[in-house]
Amino acid sequence: MSTAEPLATTPLKVAVLGCGTVGTEVVRLLTDSADDLRARIGRPLELIGIAVRRAGRERPGIDPALLTTDAEKLVSSGADLVIEVIGGIEPARNLILTALKNGASVVTANKALLAQDGSTLFAAAEEAGVDLYFEAAVAGAIPIIRPLRESLVGDEITAVIGIVNGTTNFILDKMDTSGAGFAETLTEAQDLGYAEPDPTADIEGFDAAAKAAILSSLAFHTRVTSADVYREGITDVTSTDIASAKAMGCVVKAVAICQLTGPDANGERAVSVRTHPAMIPRHHPLASVGGAYNAVFVESKSAGRLMFYGPGAGGPPTASAVLGDVVTVARNRLRGAAGPGESSYAARPISSIDTVITRYHLSLEVTDVAGVLATIANCFADHGVSIQTVRQQGRGADAQLVIVTHPAPDAALSATVESLRELDVVVEVTSVMRVEGE
Ligand code: NDP
Ligand code: HSE
Repeated sequence: MSTAEPLATTPLKVAVLGCGTVGTEVVRLLTDSADDLRARIGRPLELIGIAVRRAGRERPGIDPALLTTDAEKLVSSGADLVIEVIGGIEPARNLILTALKNGASVVTANKALLAQDGSTLFAAAEEAGVDLYFEAAVAGAIPIIRPLRESLVGDEITAVIGIVNGTTNFILDKMDTSGAGFAETLTEAQDLGYAEPDPTADIEGFDAAAKAAILSSLAFHTRVTSADVYREGITDVTSTDIASAKAMGCVVKAVAICQLTGPDANGERAVSVRTHPAMIPRHHPLASVGGAYNAVFVESKSAGRLMFYGPGAGGPPTASAVLGDVVTVARNRLRGAAGPGESSYAARPISSIDTVITRYHLSLEVTDVAGVLATIANCFADHGVSIQTVRQQGRGADAQLVIVTHPAPDAALSATVESLRELDVVVEVTSVMRVEGE
């Protein structure tokens, strides 16, 4: 008699932590696609419980018998797989650690936690000999974690550049097409359900910084946390900035830029990670990423340039990425294997934003008198910043100078802007933005 039959029908027990935007769709897919998932994995999955915070909340399509508010008990009740879609640091961190300690493999979409304390989670997974997968943590449905962790792991990645926050891309795209200001566009995005009632994580760049930290850790085989990421949100982007960008054939995008720098004189290579709004030429592929979509470019030594594009948020797209991980982790488990763990052997230093070489676009309101241009040009020269183009718009009280610099260290550009603000001939520095992608 073969023992294959009972083994093949013994289900893998799955616990889901969180049943919000993502969790609801994860549960729906686990239920609706149960037969296909069984065929793909080689075993059925049995949903043993769903942890939530509010027991009494209406949850259409969710079996109430599966719901519990005791997440700690659920992760300690013999699950083979735990799916964490609560978000935030605690209790998600402790629940994941408990699950791993109890021998469960974990699938999570939690970028904030991974970017803050991923190494603790990886160490716990390693010690338990189980998987920690997180495809959904960056760019929703777009497969970008697995390509970095597996497909491209034999190559040398030199840069990862992307639009990794759908909410800010939606807002900037709307501002570009409507000419409206930031505040009214944010309200519209909230009314349409693109932005959260508390939009801080998105508009202040925390979400993108967490994703940039995860991407650079994987790409450059070093530990990068969200605290290492230089971050500027989009709250100061004005309709003037958007119009200035348009006038020079650019579009404003919130970009995440992860670069491997050097080698320096000692042969050392560092990692530079930043997220901020930037002007991008309209012919650049990132410029055409509209609405709440995401796109990620990877530049590597041998493969060259690769682009990944798709929906970066939302319940069903994110659940797709979660389920992909669930199938992979379940297959690994049945083979008694585990997928890749943390790869941080390179231990690279993090560069300061001051040393990053960037270009700036500046709009200045100036007094329209003889010699102004020379005074301003001298200010740039004093800081060693070379001017690429200067354009004057308007006359008299309306005189505007639009200046684009050549690449220079960010510190020199910032110091130039500070000095310009102190000049008598400069009425106001109306727009300052980095220019990327040329
Ligand atoms: P939601 O806020 O919609 O859902 C969170 C869920 O967690 C809710 O069901 C909530 O319960 C539950 N929860 C909160 N605290 C506890 C607790 N202490 N114990 C048990 N359950 C708790 O979040 P999302 O679904 O939007 O996000 C989940 C994760 O997915 C986050 O890490 C997020 O960053 C990530 N993600 C989200 C994307 C998206 O588009 N939304 C895209 C990519 C990743 P209750 O329902 O009772 O309030
Ligand atoms: N709030 C994020 C975004 C989705 O707007 O892209 C979750 O990462």
